[in-house]
Amino acid sequence: METVVKGIEGVLEAAEIIRQGGLVAFPTETVYGLGANALDPAAADRIYAAKGRPSDNPLIVHIASEQDVEPLVSSFPDTAARLMRRFWPGPLTIVLFKSAKVPLRTTGGLQTVALRCPEHKMALRLIEESGVPIAAPSANLSGRPSPTEAAHVLEDLDGRIDFILDDGPVGIGVESTIVDLTGESPVLLRPGAVTKEELEEVLGREVEIDPAILQGDMEEGAQPKAPGMKYKHYAPKAQMSLVTARVMKEKDYLLNAAEQAEADEEVADSINKEAEISIKAGNRVGILCCEETKGRYRTGYGNIKVRIKVLGSRKDPPSMLRNLYRLLREFDAEAVDEIFSESYSERGLFFPLMNRLRKAAGMREMIV
Ligand code: TXA
Ligand code: MG
Repeated sequence: METVVKGIEGVLEAAEIIRQGGLVAFPTETVYGLGANALDPAAADRIYAAKGRPSDNPLIVHIASEQDVEPLVSSFPDTAARLMRRFWPGPLTIVLFKSAKVPLRTTGGLQTVALRCPEHKMALRLIEESGVPIAAPSANLSGRPSPTEAAHVLEDLDGRIDFILDDGPVGIGVESTIVDLTGESPVLLRPGAVTKEELEEVLGREVEIDPAILQGDMEEGAQPKAPGMKYKHYAPKAQMSLVTARVMKEKDYLLNAAEQAEADEEVADSINKEAEISIKAGNRVGILCCEETKGRYRTGYGNIKVRIKVLGSRKDPPSMLRNLYRLLREFDAEAVDEIFSESYSERGLFFPLMNRLRKAAGMREMIV
């Protein structure tokens, strides 16, 4: 059983554990990470073992400032420096060519390294006190939603790690944006709170979207750019389906109020129908929706309840991101068998939201 410590007091002890090759779960502004010394291949192995994660899935290396980049990379393009100045510390991970100092076990065998400077006091103190860069994937068991509070870390990793720093619920709630700067054009490998639009504004050029983000499941044997993409991620235990109004796609996610109301009605009608069929088949059913639509759903059939969970208001996409993984875990805890979720726009902060919803749904989507 590991020690859970709230507040900054735990940081010194945690840093000592990192220096000795141990595993420490710690908060960041995005999700909780499972940290170890990024320069120690044996420590990286311990991370893979604790998470039950395949060791060809590379780890993100966390540093305390832009000054820590130089020794870890073999080239440092001006585009990277510009992004760091604008978005660090913050939820942006940048992939560059690695130096010899970074072990291949940390990068999953790749010649590139993913670097991130988190915007979180405790995380930054931990990196500084450790005196080494900290390799950290999200602190969940492989295949489960990322942890957004310390209790989620305990749920998944109790007894498998050495220490947990607890700072309450995180601010953002989905993993950092990842941009790859090792090719001719910048490529978005994972959408997050730093949006594609913001990256393009700073870089002054278009950012490509890695096809795996949109297509989901890789073909058998294909070599993905971000190796993590070939594994099932963020998934609740229940089978989940997205339900999307055709008009949303047709109008490129720009609906006026009347069109939106019509789309909401169509989606709710379909979900209510599907929920009824699923309940009659003996399933426990959940619905994931928003403040604006929650009144459209039937709450039960006879004495059987439908578990309706509200992500947040569509006027406040950050709240939707913040709540998503906690709600998916709640569905798991309630042993829900089937979840139906609404779809949202693909613009701005709705893009990372839709990306995580699609992954949780294993790409199952009904267009209505
Ligand atoms: O917000 C975050 O980024 C959180 C917190 C803890 O910082 N960390 C996180 O790590 O989400 P993780 O391991 O769950 O996601 C790491 C993903 C890999 O699955 C892979 O897709 C990508 O980052 N990645 C890491 N190194 C890479 C590299 N060298 N090239 C391409 N993709 C890489
Ligand atoms: Mg993860």
